[in-house]
Amino acid sequence: MYEQIAHSLLNKILDELKPEIRKRDLRHFYTRLGANFYAIHSLFHLLYGKRDDFERQMLRLVEVMAAQYILREKPLKKKDHKREHDHNWFLSQKWVGMALYTDGFSDDLQGLRERIDYFEELGINMVHVMPILECPQGASDGGYAVSNFRDVDERIGSLTDLRVLAKELRQRDILLTLDVVVNHTSDEHEWAKKAQEGDEKYQDYFYIYKNRDTPDVFETSMPEVFPETSPGNFTFDKSMNKWVMTVFNDYQWDLNYNNPAVFIEMLDIILFWANQGADIIRLDAVAFLWKKIGTTCQNEREAHLILQLMKDCCQVTAPGILFIAEAIVAPVEIIKYFGEDAVIAKECEIAYNATFMALLWDAVATKNTKLLNQGICSLPEKLERSTWLNYVRCHDDIGLGFDDNDIYQVGYDPKAHRHFLVDYFTGNFEGSPAKGQPFGHNEKTGDDRISGALASLVGLEDAIDKNDAKAIQQSIDLILLLHGMVISFGGIPLLYYGDEIGTYNDYSYLKDVSKAHDNRWIHRPQINWERAEKRHQKDTPEQKIFDGLKRMIAVRKTVSSFADYNNRELIETENSHLFAFMRNNPFEDKDKDNVLVVGNFNNLPQYFSLSDLRNRGLFEYEFLQDLYSGESISIVEDKLVVPPYCFFWLVNRKV
Ligand code: GLC
Ligand code: GLC
Repeated sequence: MYEQIAHSLLNKILDELKPEIRKRDLRHFYTRLGANFYAIHSLFHLLYGKRDDFERQMLRLVEVMAAQYILREKPLKKKDHKREHDHNWFLSQKWVGMALYTDGFSDDLQGLRERIDYFEELGINMVHVMPILECPQGASDGGYAVSNFRDVDERIGSLTDLRVLAKELRQRDILLTLDVVVNHTSDEHEWAKKAQEGDEKYQDYFYIYKNRDTPDVFETSMPEVFPETSPGNFTFDKSMNKWVMTVFNDYQWDLNYNNPAVFIEMLDIILFWANQGADIIRLDAVAFLWKKIGTTCQNEREAHLILQLMKDCCQVTAPGILFIAEAIVAPVEIIKYFGEDAVIAKECEIAYNATFMALLWDAVATKNTKLLNQGICSLPEKLERSTWLNYVRCHDDIGLGFDDNDIYQVGYDPKAHRHFLVDYFTGNFEGSPAKGQPFGHNEKTGDDRISGALASLVGLEDAIDKNDAKAIQQSIDLILLLHGMVISFGGIPLLYYGDEIGTYNDYSYLKDVSKAHDNRWIHRPQINWERAEKRHQKDTPEQKIFDGLKRMIAVRKTVSSFADYNNRELIETENSHLFAFMRNNPFEDKDKDNVLVVGNFNNLPQYFSLSDLRNRGLFEYEFLQDLYSGESISIVEDKLVVPPYCFFWLVNRKV
């Protein structure tokens, strides 16, 4: 949009740019800057307009964008153009991701490169390499406490290794996702150290207070993220004799986005990693970006403005880059991270679907889909050109963040129901085979979250210990059922490393003092590659899970109705053990099928009635074909039988 104030400032900035920037041919950069400048100016002004140095900061912002554009290499710029042209590329059903810790998966970055064949064997073409940046030796929250945002941790390799990996992935059409931990730094980061030495410029990078007055006021309304291990939201720093805001662990200092210098530094860092070859940047803990007294300091409007500004700026320099929002918050809040006012996403194109993940676990424990159906029914429609990351497990705990209203709606008491879920997954409920552990117990609220590997939570570990063949098969079916749902739901499925071969809890973290207090490490395994070989040995759990997933992924890629154009319709069924939805073909092409997805979360066979669909003129033929197994499914009197813990991806066949 053309607007005089912004435009005259833009002209002024262009005149003032450093000569080394002015001299370059930046045609594409300038057209995009022109297109986004009104938005960038408005947002930057909303956040920082009251400051005397506003214009100087604006100039600095444009310089950073231009300098990183100049550094962006040709193949990456080519990719930006390709994606500009094919702007819906990431909504395709073609993409399937896996998240992993480099050291757990393959020791180091070189080792990871040697394992690319493994991704290809399974069908993975988006790899989220979890934090690889320099971090302290001991407590580093698995790399989420960064001490240097511009270099790779030497324990897993070098910047060159990362660039070589990125290049090879690019050549093999595999996307690379990297983290940028935007909310905080490690207390060993240079900025924190300078702050500790008394440098006021850097003290202003963080929330630092000389006494408890302000922290006390903040804490009246701030919840705690790690109440057991890192209670409160502030930490006393002896060297400064002051209090620092530390919402996560006491060694993770929250960055102060009231300071435009912090915003500009972090944008520079995002663009730096985009220029190392990342396709997607995962923005960590985005809900926490803005702190305001009297609020929970989560999901604040300014946090959204910051993300919009990051997006608008990133589009100017590296428009091919996507953002993932890691916001593990209430369903109505998550949806806002796609961008609230825009028709198409203008914050993050991708967000973790934590709601769906938690609801799936509810269905596992209750063996019914009441809350799952209710929760998905109340999930607000997301924007066009935005997509979910759908997952069953990740490296974090499972939070039971359903909407209390939804829990009431299906007839449970929220507190009692959450207690039941924690009991169930920690094996404290009669008949539960789950071997999870409670995480983050909060004395004040009584809340718990859950840690545990997928295979241990669904009972595979227990069944194998007991050598119970039937239970082994059921837990394998459950693993496949859960993935059958996330792979077809609409969005990019994100598998968690090790789950493809049924890896159980790993208790070795207890021997490491820097990890022992944090049981999320129970589900952050070291891949046992000898065990992984069993995927080639018929009828082993490893083979059944791996091949099942491999087949699902291969089928997904051929089904265009699985692309994400908000083309999902929840199907109400009278049977509360089933979860059913239709994936409608989003394209004009009449030959492409709608797909009916039906999953049974119960240990008994369940019936699905097709009458409603048939009354709508759908699924009228005698035979349905299950795309996953390839088998024909016959229908008796409009009823489809779904075996225990089974799912179908059904299309209608005339035959
Ligand atoms: C993110 C990470 C989590 C980490 C937290 C603090 O939520 O996923 O592992 O503990 O941020 O950085
Ligand atoms: C909370 C935070 C989330 C973080 C997690 C770490 O759920 O909201 O961002 O990943 O804690 O366990």
